[in-house]
Amino acid sequence: MTIKVKDLQFEPYISQHLINTRVIELANRLTIDYHDKNPLFLSVLNGSFMFTADLMKSFLSPCEISFIKLASYSGLKSTENVQELIGINENIDGKHIVIIEDIIDTGLTLKNILLQLKNQKPASIKIMTLLFKPEAFKETFEIDYVGFEIENKFVVGYGLDYDGNGRNLDQIYVLK
Ligand code: IMP
Repeated sequence: MTIKVKDLQFEPYISQHLINTRVIELANRLTIDYHDKNPLFLSVLNGSFMFTADLMKSFLSPCEISFIKLASYSGLKSTENVQELIGINENIDGKHIVIIEDIIDTGLTLKNILLQLKNQKPASIKIMTLLFKPEAFKETFEIDYVGFEIENKFVVGYGLDYDGNGRNLDQIYVLK
């Protein structure tokens, strides 16, 4: 069924059932890879909140979970636009980090996050994303766990928004 989010029409793309099945598979992979590592999961807000909650319910080993965000603020010069990573209150030195993203598009957001995290000397960093748009990706870093590779089209739902709306939808919709 087609739905309207603000001024745009979207149609069903990835069903709730397909998402649930894949999220459990991803969590099982993580449980195998991290059962003895006490990982720190860093979930990138806002879009990853729903994916993270479902994923973490099926991760069956000890772990820590934190939420991070890139906050834009203007530097001293009005032309400077710095993106600061906020939300890490713990020392990540020596920890095994898994970044949890909702979607990787060009990869710029994650490149920025990776640069800032690597400065803090974690033992390892891996990347998990629910959705990945290979045609839009412009970076060279490796993405370790991908839920679904999708076309280069705009999607909403299951945490992802269109202009702040649609995050609560229980499945993923694509722009018509
Ligand atoms: P990137 O830096 O180009 O990889 O973009 C990542 C961010 O752009 C994501 O975390 C989303 O917030 C947003 N984004 C990219 N593609 C979509 C989409 O299809 N729907 C909703 N948000 C998107």
